[in-house]
Amino acid sequence: MKLPTLLVSLPLLFLAFSQQTSASSYPSFTPIKPLYHLRTYTKLHSHTNPHSDHRFNGLYLHASPTGANPDNHYALFTSNISLAAIGFLNSTNSIEGFDLNKNQPYSFSFQMQPDAGWSEVDINAGLGSLQGVEFADMGKAGKALVLSNASKMGSIWGGWIVCDWWHNAPQLFWRYSDKYKPGPYPAPRGCADVDLIQVLLS
Ligand SMILES: *[C@@H]1O[C@H](CO)[C@@H](O)[C@H](O)[C@H]1NC(C)=O
Ligand SMILES: *[C@@H]1O[C@H](CO)[C@@H](O)[C@H](O)[C@H]1NC(C)=O
Ligand SMILES: *[C@@H]1O[C@H](CO)[C@@H](O)[C@H](O)[C@H]1NC(C)=O
Repeated sequence: MKLPTLLVSLPLLFLAFSQQTSASSYPSFTPIKPLYHLRTYTKLHSHTNPHSDHRFNGLYLHASPTGANPDNHYALFTSNISLAAIGFLNSTNSIEGFDLNKNQPYSFSFQMQPDAGWSEVDINAGLGSLQGVEFADMGKAGKALVLSNASKMGSIWGGWIVCDWWHNAPQLFWRYSDKYKPGPYPAPRGCADVDLIQVLLS
């Protein structure tokens, strides 16, 4: 291809591509029922949870726009149920989906920092690659969102941590299990171990 042709065709190609993706990637996105919110339930004090903190109990997961990119959200917590993210479990691929009132599903995305022992969880556009999500019966606390031991990420997932970190609101993190590190990383000061309990929408 000669240079002038390339210069003309590149913008056309881009236009064709962007029209195609916005028009046809999720033509009729409908979340899979049941729909639910996820609410924290703080775990008991233990050697991995030395700062168990009841301020983190009973808070709803909220997808907070990062501002930089409309596809990316921080996983934060709020006591205001009006702001709670609407979640659903996609049983086809065991992905934790979110209906953020946009034209496509959103899903959890784990950042990977094995040296740190724990890392951030984000809520990003699309179905993502975090498979193996399921609910475990926690008795009177309800059903908790976990990663199946049989899944790739489940084999290194060691639970959820909520921390007051850098967004002026409690934020969701995941810890590596002791299969990955010599021992489970204790929740740092300002952080506590939680379960994420399914609260069904009526
Ligand atoms: C559920 O997962 C399947 C398989 O990846 C996908 O085709 C479908 O669009 C997903 N549905 C929702 C509502 O996320
Ligand atoms: C909860 O969030 C809703 C929606 O943003 C807002 O209108 C309401 O004022 C909030 N309530 C409190 C108590 O902050
Ligand atoms: C995974 O295995 C561990 C250790 O055997 C167990 O404590 C945990 O409950 C299992 N998790 C799930 C989600 O089944």
